[in-house]
Amino acid sequence: MDATSIPTLFAALQIPNNHTAVGLSNLLAGNTQARTLFHHGRLPDSGWSDLQIHRLLLELSVLDTNCEESVKYQSSTRDAFSHRWTGAGEREGRIYSPLVSQRHYGFGHGIGRSGDVMEAQPKAVGSSALLRLTLRLTLDAVRRGAGMNGTTGKGDTPSGPASFGTLLPVCTGMSMALVLSGLRDRAQGLDAAAASVNNGGGCIAIERNIVLWSRIDQKSCYKAILTAGLRCIVLPTKAHPETDEVSTDLDALKAALDKYGNRILAVLTTTSCFCPRVPDEVDAVAKMIQTWNVGKDGVGISHVINHAYGLQCQSTNKLINRACSIGRVDAIICSTDKNFLVPVGGALILSPNVNVIESISQNYPGRASASPMIDLFITLLSMGLDGYKGLLEERKRLAVVFRQRLEMVANLFKERILNCPRNSISFGITLDNLVASDGTNSGSEQLLQGEQNNQITKFGSMLFTRCISGTRVVPRNESKSISGHTFHGFGSSHEQYPHAYMTAACAVGMGEGEMNEFFERLEKSWKDYCAKREKEARKRGKGEIPGNIEENMKDLAIRNNQHP
Ligand SMILES: Cc1ncc(COP(=O)(O)O)c(C=O)c1O
Repeated sequence: MDATSIPTLFAALQIPNNHTAVGLSNLLAGNTQARTLFHHGRLPDSGWSDLQIHRLLLELSVLDTNCEESVKYQSSTRDAFSHRWTGAGEREGRIYSPLVSQRHYGFGHGIGRSGDVMEAQPKAVGSSALLRLTLRLTLDAVRRGAGMNGTTGKGDTPSGPASFGTLLPVCTGMSMALVLSGLRDRAQGLDAAAASVNNGGGCIAIERNIVLWSRIDQKSCYKAILTAGLRCIVLPTKAHPETDEVSTDLDALKAALDKYGNRILAVLTTTSCFCPRVPDEVDAVAKMIQTWNVGKDGVGISHVINHAYGLQCQSTNKLINRACSIGRVDAIICSTDKNFLVPVGGALILSPNVNVIESISQNYPGRASASPMIDLFITLLSMGLDGYKGLLEERKRLAVVFRQRLEMVANLFKERILNCPRNSISFGITLDNLVASDGTNSGSEQLLQGEQNNQITKFGSMLFTRCISGTRVVPRNESKSISGHTFHGFGSSHEQYPHAYMTAACAVGMGEGEMNEFFERLEKSWKDYCAKREKEARKRGKGEIPGNIEENMKDLAIRNNQHP
């Protein structure tokens, strides 16, 4: 209701003015907050209440043409037909089920138009405003919350990674495919323009259809490149000489740049990964690409960073800031679910270059579901900036404890924590003794690698059946074929990683109680696993397993100065 007419309307009902003024102050305070939100496009410091968010969502959805339930029309002729709008198009945002309508707050038109996923829709001004506001709030969260730079200045100052952005209604993998196809469109235009200038229009630019991908064993990434209709050259990774880390092989990248040259559309790096893989050295990669592009015509080789769940890690965000300031970065892909605790189905694409963002938005075919944006809008408003920062801080605090606790478990079972200091989200411990310490492994009875791997995999399944989710158990020397390419040493992102291991992540949203529960269950499951194998070994008449669990616990207690 219009706040200015309320005093008069209520006075007509003989409600005292001073009573009306008190009630009105609530309405006005709410309106002011909403106005500020639109005006500044920044997250409120404190999160809003559910009721406040609900109210704003309903107010926005009323603005869409399909929301006639909220504006049921009393026709002056009093005939049976009482709809305000009469839709004669093939898609009018009709929603059959009230339950579905409620689930979406009445929004039914989706977002974007055929030409651009960020474009405003005439029939759905509420949805359009919601989308644009959500993007602004998200960019604000990324800049002021996660520490990514926005536009850093004028003149020659390079822009930060979070200068511009778009939201896509699909998960990380599909978004990667969309980003790459948007970049291909852009490259075709710019390369053709450059070729026509240089050759008087007589020469057609070479098609860029190769993506150099710094290997990370995540199937979606590889499949995304193929889905975009591009050819993937898998670059090997390098094992760090002094730690257990696996990371970028810059020599292999340089060689591939020289080999494939102008046929390369983009280099795809990753900054959130399972241990022992650590974030790619995206600053060095960005610099190398920029140097390589110098003096070349056209769009040059682009650089896409898969930052799937990396927003929660400030040191990696800083690395990306640096990459943008010293070299070439075109797009950064971030999952909404993994970073902002919403259901699966959306991605945020960041870029220092507004033209790149436009190419990606315009490349999206058709309209998009508004659901992921509504979820993100609600969540960000509910968190507020303080809530979001608090979650990031808590994760950082817990990550230190998480690593220590994991190390204790490793010691208890005569394993060791993988030393991967550049990965502060995912942690790993070796599983080299889990199966090798079985009393059956001597001489000719040495377990074959396949059988060992089987047993290690069983350990992983056991954790899952004990309701521990998210851990990954990676045996040695496993191979996997994905769409015709065979990855040796699959899981570790390296051809010959020397350990079997398991990983566990301290990701945003994990609470201390959940973490404690995880470690209790892990320890208990591990003991049960060892006990089971001991029993099996005894049954086969092989005797005790050397270094059994009771002994290990005594050792550990002595080392920790405790009584066993
Ligand atoms: C590094 C990385 N890239 C891509 C993906 C795929 O994400 P999505 O399932 O959102 O497509 C994941 C999934 O966890 C991931 O870890």
